[in-house]
Amino acid sequence: MDLSAEAVSKISVPLLLQRKARSEKITCLTAYDYPIARLVDEAGIDLILVGDTLGPVVLGYDSTLPVTDEEILHHLRAVRRGVKRALLVADLPYGSYHINCEEALRIAIRFLKEGKAEAVKLEGGRKRASLIRRLVDAEIPVLGHVGLTPQSVHVFGGHRVQGKTAAAASEVLEDALAVEDAGAFAIVLEGMPRELAGLITRRLRVPTIGIGAGPECDGQILVLHDLLGLTAGPLPKFVRPYAAIAETIRGALERYGDDVRAGRFPCDAESYHWPHNVRHEVEARGDGAAIRDSCSARMTAHS
Ligand code: KIV
Repeated sequence: MDLSAEAVSKISVPLLLQRKARSEKITCLTAYDYPIARLVDEAGIDLILVGDTLGPVVLGYDSTLPVTDEEILHHLRAVRRGVKRALLVADLPYGSYHINCEEALRIAIRFLKEGKAEAVKLEGGRKRASLIRRLVDAEIPVLGHVGLTPQSVHVFGGHRVQGKTAAAASEVLEDALAVEDAGAFAIVLEGMPRELAGLITRRLRVPTIGIGAGPECDGQILVLHDLLGLTAGPLPKFVRPYAAIAETIRGALERYGDDVRAGRFPCDAESYHWPHNVRHEVEARGDGAAIRDSCSARMTAHS
């Protein structure tokens, strides 16, 4: 059976596992609205994440921490309408799985039932193992996320690369093994030396999806706004800018403003016109008279 990216009409969890076995890379991106989700899906990207980077890149928050489950659900619904082929994954935001498993399960079930996600993602290693088991028991596929987990920004003291010493690297490896053992179908490896990500990738049966973790991972994910050049401020070094969309948008908006101010927009071709007979009538009777007549005729008919 041909399981290549082009041949497959719907990406599923088992198919992603087969990709690892066949050493075929997995492509992943974030999306937060309908038009972008359509473009990402039509481009053949395998997995679309409605992530909690929604907060910083779309909602203007200063981190991912304030993002709520209602906000994820709102954007998930929009993205769902644009996605046909990719596997759609919803991020469990900070606070949605930290109080207890029941609460996390309830929110994850809403993401599947109301947002039509096909899986959820959550951050953390060994300490999340029992929750991951619980979700998997409830038929919810889980994408793990270890290494630089942004929801732990205050614990790490910033967005710091993890696993840089031998001891720290073995902690990250233990986390990844625990998440796999708990039943995650794939694991995001974020912000770690490529050597460590390569080692974890070789040790795991499930695919690894790297972000700032080098090329040895089974797949890659980026925040779409970063790769399109829509994110304000400096980007981390692992982001390759594939486009400079902010510049394109800025240029278009400045030209629009200039054209309106100079009376160049709209032009005649961008305007609607009277049909010839109306135009002739108005011209023959003098500017406005024909219209006033037809108005008063209509008002008399209605009175
Ligand atoms: O929320 C997000 O965008 C993420 C990816 C960066 C993995 O978690």
